[in-house]
Amino acid sequence: MEKYIDIAKRKFEELKDKKDVLVLGIESSCDETSISVVKNGREILSNIVASQIEIHKRFGGVVPEVASRNHILAISNVLEDALEVAKVTLNDVDAIAVTYGAGLVGALLVGVSFAKSLAFSLKKPLVAVSHIDGHIAANYLSHQDLKPPFLCLMVSGGHTALLDVEDYTKRTLLGSTIDDAVGEAFDKVARVLGLTYPGGVQVDNLSKGVLPTLTFLKHEVLPNTLNFSFSGLKTAVINYVNNQKQKNLEIDIKDVCASFQKTAVSQLVSKSTSAAKQTHAKNLVVAGGVGANSCLKETLEVACQQNNIKLFQPTLSLCTDNAAMIASAGYYYIKNGKGLADLSLTACPVVKL
Ligand code: KG4
Ligand code: ZN
Repeated sequence: MEKYIDIAKRKFEELKDKKDVLVLGIESSCDETSISVVKNGREILSNIVASQIEIHKRFGGVVPEVASRNHILAISNVLEDALEVAKVTLNDVDAIAVTYGAGLVGALLVGVSFAKSLAFSLKKPLVAVSHIDGHIAANYLSHQDLKPPFLCLMVSGGHTALLDVEDYTKRTLLGSTIDDAVGEAFDKVARVLGLTYPGGVQVDNLSKGVLPTLTFLKHEVLPNTLNFSFSGLKTAVINYVNNQKQKNLEIDIKDVCASFQKTAVSQLVSKSTSAAKQTHAKNLVVAGGVGANSCLKETLEVACQQNNIKLFQPTLSLCTDNAAMIASAGYYYIKNGKGLADLSLTACPVVKL
């Protein structure tokens, strides 16, 4: 009898030249259980996202063990919904693409194990996708005409980086955070202000229409490099809040949010324009959850216009974690002959940027 991996290799090769390819994407790296069906890397037939936000809210952040258990509870129903909405059966699907990292290892393992079972039982290729490539691919779903090469600003809860995306499966790291990711800084600032989880969007909402008056950083961060740093800014905000509390002075939460956000965004924007100048990039693509931030969007729009750069931002619903972006990235892995995994695939908490 032909072994699973031999069948998978054969089918994977055949997909390179197949006209229409349907990929089932699976994402469970943090607190969203998501399954999606995407056609030819660009057309979303379904994208079901079961969020655990309400569950983790009472803990003030994602509890890894709780996340894993809830992925297990949700994943089978999410699959049924994804197939029903897409009006396809598992037999119609050409390959299973799953996030293998980066993320919470227990959470990732639920998606990876589920994907392996599906791939093995259906005798279809299993494609191991990096969450980073997924966030980039969210833009292929949002902008039908977007193609590499481009400069990418990756801003999520776990990563902050500038990437030179040369091709669908080829990218070079230009710079990254030397400490906290920007999303992490948003979430920690929100927490010290007593805002509910998830913090980033709350900081964004509270900052709307507010003129920031507080100065948290007096110096430029890591000048003349494309690396980022957010821990100094985060600590300055936390110290300010704690000092005010100790002195029994009022804290203008909206002003703190807007002032922090403005400083964080200005670092992201100035490094992005420097990177565009250095690499002569004509296109800047934003990827990751913090891409949903309204101040970042507006500030980037102005900066890109001034510097003659075409800006691409993902549709709001595709900024944060979802499986459509994983299916899209999986499609481009398949077309470039990359990412075929065997049944020993496991979860990786850290992946190469
Ligand atoms: O990409 P993502 O969904 O997950 C990771 O891969 O990390 O990003 C989640 C991050 C969180 O830190 C969240 O607070 C942040 O994105 N975020 C925002 C906004 N929406 C989500 N940060 C600032 N403003 C927002 N509107
Ligand atoms: Zn993410």
